[in-house]
Amino acid sequence: MTDQLTAEAILPQEFPNLGPVALEGLHPALLDAKMDSMRVLSETAMAFPDALSFSSGAPYDGDYDLNQISRQIEQYFACSREAGVPEALLARRMFHYGPVNGFILAEIAQMLRVQEGIEVPEASIMVTNGFQEALLIALRGLFSSPDDVLLTVAPAYVGILGAARMLDIPYRGVLEGPEGICAENVLEVIRATRAEGKRPRALYLIPDFSNPSGTVIPLATRRRLLEIAEAEDLLILEDNPYGIFAPDGEQLPTFKALDTRQRVVFLGSFAKSAFPGARMGYLIADQILEYRGQSPRYLAQRLSLAKSMFSVGTSSLSQALIAGLLHERGYDLRKASEPSRDVYLERLKAALENLALHFPPSKWDQHGVGWNEPRGGFFIVLNLPFAVDLALMEHSAREYGVSWAPMNMFYPEGGGERQLRLGVSNLEPAKIAEGIARLARFITDHAARTGQEGKS
Ligand SMILES: Cc1ncc(COP(=O)(O)O)c(C=O)c1O
Repeated sequence: MTDQLTAEAILPQEFPNLGPVALEGLHPALLDAKMDSMRVLSETAMAFPDALSFSSGAPYDGDYDLNQISRQIEQYFACSREAGVPEALLARRMFHYGPVNGFILAEIAQMLRVQEGIEVPEASIMVTNGFQEALLIALRGLFSSPDDVLLTVAPAYVGILGAARMLDIPYRGVLEGPEGICAENVLEVIRATRAEGKRPRALYLIPDFSNPSGTVIPLATRRRLLEIAEAEDLLILEDNPYGIFAPDGEQLPTFKALDTRQRVVFLGSFAKSAFPGARMGYLIADQILEYRGQSPRYLAQRLSLAKSMFSVGTSSLSQALIAGLLHERGYDLRKASEPSRDVYLERLKAALENLALHFPPSKWDQHGVGWNEPRGGFFIVLNLPFAVDLALMEHSAREYGVSWAPMNMFYPEGGGERQLRLGVSNLEPAKIAEGIARLARFITDHAARTGQEGKS
């Protein structure tokens, strides 16, 4: 494993352009260092095994049990047999190609009903290889002209920026405030996009404990954005993997639960509510389409054409596993996640306390060091007196034993240069304390070097 994480490390510097494939002939996105951010963030912990890693948003992995995998698949078999599914049909489901949109639609519909109060027909659901495939399918299906523009919250999860780039879909960032994306900024970007003769087609947002910023969109803004979507003929692409971790009494309805006019396409993930290795996600697209006199179908059924060409289907093993897990957990992953939610809240609290300890406002405020205080989720954003990038993150990991993520990689059009993201989900409180002590050493040294030292 290399300890060089920047894009150059994976491009063949020593033997440029030997062989029949020229770098310049590849899709330009593959030559863009920003495109490497997903890999960098997930592999930093492996690349710097001695460093404490705040780089990723990896879920808590304290209680993995290998037996869980076979048990939950068996659970699915048992439920199917109980429901009268013949053995031969069950075997076919497991061993053969299955329906493109998946065979656990009823189970996901049940989860959405119990857990989120979302009522949608099974035929409007598609099982996907993680959120990321749901996103690619939705984007490919919904964006038909070079004039169709994707609006995305800024800063945003790197998955959206990379997917849009891979599909050559133009995008514009909508800067968020302390309460997430706000209606005025959305309207402003819609107006600017239309003024260029382009069509704002969809708005991507992360309503709860956003990655990277930790913000939560208030209920009134959710309703207002749905009105704007209706008035401006815009779809909302909702990505909500962290909402299930809300503290008691603070859970807000998802956009999809509030969506009475089919303006929302929900892009779901089981990465945080189950586990990321299953690579399971889903899409809800209950918009009804009539096509040249054919009987009406849901958008999810039409998007099935894209899914069939991207991946043919989703692994039967992973589907059986998630169906068994859903059954075992009463179709309510929010409830079942309460113990891990409490672990995450404890880690967030530990991180906030240690930040306050190491960066007293009396010393650091004047230098612009500060942070937000999210009420849940995995991430905290720290403001710095100097600019950071991946090279500096590597330096911090190697020399100070602590890694993090530069915020700039989450901005579609520049921004966040003097900010870093701390992912606190995967470190115990004692390690968080040590990690923030190391971070304080790094920041103090670097601030001194750049003339931005905090003075008592
Ligand atoms: C905002 C956001 N969406 C989606 C995902 C998960 O996507 P997937 O299901 O493809 O693993 C993550 C994981 O980090 C995330 O932070």
